[in-house]
Amino acid sequence: MGWVDAIRDHGNLLFIHLRDVRGIVQVVFDPGLSKQSYDHATYLREEDVVQVRGKVEIRAKGTENPYLATGDIEVYATEIEILSKSKPLPFQISEKAMVFGEEIQSSPDKVDEELRMKYRYLDLRRPSRQDIFIKRDRIIHLAREALRARSFVEVETPFLTRSTPEGARDYLVPSRVHRGKFYALPQSPQLFKQLLMIGGMDRYYQIVRCFRDEDLRPNRQPEFTQLDLEASFIDEGFIYEVVEELLVSMFSVGDISLPRPFPRLTYEQAMELYGTDRPDTRFGMTFREVTDIVKDTGYSIFQRIISAGGIVKGICVRAKAHELSKNVLQNEYALKIVPSFGAKGMTWMKVIEGKLQSNIVQFFAPQEQQRLMERFEARDGDVLLMIADESRDLVNEVLGKLRLHLAERLGLIPQDKYSPLWVTHFPLFEMKEDGIGSQHHPFTQPEREDFDPENIEELLCLKSRAYDIVLNGEELGGGSIRIHRMETQRKIFKALGLSDKEAEAKFGFFLKALEYGAPPHGGLALGMDRVISMILGTESIREVIAFPKNRRAFCPLTQAPARVDPEQLEELGITVTGEGLEYDAGFGPVGEKEERPRREPRVTRQEVIHVAKLARLRVPEEELDMYARDLNSILDYVEKLSELDTDNVPATSHVLPMKNVWRPDEPTASEDVESVLREAPERKDNFFKVPRILES
Ligand code: AMO
Repeated sequence: MGWVDAIRDHGNLLFIHLRDVRGIVQVVFDPGLSKQSYDHATYLREEDVVQVRGKVEIRAKGTENPYLATGDIEVYATEIEILSKSKPLPFQISEKAMVFGEEIQSSPDKVDEELRMKYRYLDLRRPSRQDIFIKRDRIIHLAREALRARSFVEVETPFLTRSTPEGARDYLVPSRVHRGKFYALPQSPQLFKQLLMIGGMDRYYQIVRCFRDEDLRPNRQPEFTQLDLEASFIDEGFIYEVVEELLVSMFSVGDISLPRPFPRLTYEQAMELYGTDRPDTRFGMTFREVTDIVKDTGYSIFQRIISAGGIVKGICVRAKAHELSKNVLQNEYALKIVPSFGAKGMTWMKVIEGKLQSNIVQFFAPQEQQRLMERFEARDGDVLLMIADESRDLVNEVLGKLRLHLAERLGLIPQDKYSPLWVTHFPLFEMKEDGIGSQHHPFTQPEREDFDPENIEELLCLKSRAYDIVLNGEELGGGSIRIHRMETQRKIFKALGLSDKEAEAKFGFFLKALEYGAPPHGGLALGMDRVISMILGTESIREVIAFPKNRRAFCPLTQAPARVDPEQLEELGITVTGEGLEYDAGFGPVGEKEERPRREPRVTRQEVIHVAKLARLRVPEEELDMYARDLNSILDYVEKLSELDTDNVPATSHVLPMKNVWRPDEPTASEDVESVLREAPERKDNFFKVPRILES
């Protein structure tokens, strides 16, 4: 039993690929064997569900299909029952050609993601998608096994709870019983897992859904899964060991071996060497500081910045002088790319025949040039890029972006390498818009407890016992050793400007628990969707989530979030006000204002040029803007269409009625051939030869 994956009618024989989650088998309908089954089979369409009985035979020599695990056999059908029919499909599902060597007609990956998500149940029928979820299950199983082996116990914590302090906005759930009050969905089980430690469960874990209403990025979802863990009477070393063991085990599902122990960098080292707290260490190009070498240079830009207390740092791009022309370095990087990263400019030098070359090299003394080459360990063909600014943070940040930009452009990132890294000793606090705030969360243990909670400068220098696990430049997880003494917790709240009253109102239940003998404890949470996406090499985390939301936190399948009945709101004591969401009795809401973010990026001139090129059209310069404007208004219109309720409208892939699509490529009447081809500029046999349109 299964789905009809593909059909091939040979006139005298009919073949189908029968598919289920475990694979595909070829079924042959031979009218000589069972006329009734053959006749039935001629009605089959892709994705009909059928039950077939028949005899398994070895395939004739030369007709085997090495793409299929069952490619050496086929089933000769003696009975078929159509269990359910499928409507015409919105996109092709089959991923396996019926004949070895034949290409699948359209790659399913080319299907618009929004359409795939809308029909996710069809998308999920594809073997490559099913494989993701089979592996996801395996990965999670291995994680559970590894944690159980270390005596961790899975405990569930509530979803209907109070606000948790992870820094994003909460999803709120109104209470009907307690009118006017709300639960918050947890951003993480942080406080509950700490309460479990206080409750004496000394090794906890949970594979748990977390909810965060935050700006969506490609690797973020409003609801996502964490592997959350916590343990008592432990230190950082224990967490590193457990998490490394877990990751090594989980990555083995993708045949990826992660070398242990994972390297470690402090936050400060990561910023100084890579300009980011999640460095991609698959490649080098770390920063070197050269302020000391150029502090008395004749190059006035450096001179001015250094005398104002600034610094100069740079990177060395090995052996790429021939790929980074003067034009690229000056006009692209120095004038456009680097300023877009926030720096005022960039200084570049190439090493040619043992000497530095650039547009400004004459301002540097020979001794300075020599020392620069030594500092960067520069050899012939290398390119030095330097950024100077009064702010060290800005120099690091810009160099960090520049390093990644160059590595991607020059193909310096080895794609089959996996480089895990612990980043440790994060700052405890950071300056936020409304004053000082926790970098991680307010329950993180500071490195020392003798700080003055009113001395902002001291607070900003304070390190914490927080750590992140980073892989190939992506943060997979984070955690910390926690505060377990009430006095320290009070000091932290004081530093954060929370009065006793405010702290009590927000976290009173937790603070009370801290007073009853809390063990020293710590933990971490892995973002499982990110981990799985990385193991399986998928383009986004949406691919490893069965029913994800799109980038606008909207579910194309269920159309959530949706409006609710006015009665439901009334029952909850909620009135929706503001931008005109009024309910028109019986007709649904009227006058709702769009709150959606504008589509980014809008169509630009550059994109018009690109599309015109693909279509082999020449668009005059002065018409580019007109096309861009028209395309934008089409996009606006399409956006409005997504509001349409198309639930009961059959999916269609052809606007015009389809007719005779299987017509062979032959003229119908052979005597017409000459007259049809009379005007052909070029012919090949009996065909009108046209130029190739698309080039690969
Ligand atoms: P944190 O907020 O760093 O820590 O989250 C842990 C990991 O969860 C993943 N993650 C996400 N994945 C997908 N979509 C999102 N919106 C999203 N937000 C976070 C990341 C991240 O590293 N309670 C602490 C952990 C602890 O201290 O033990 C916490 O939640 O991979």
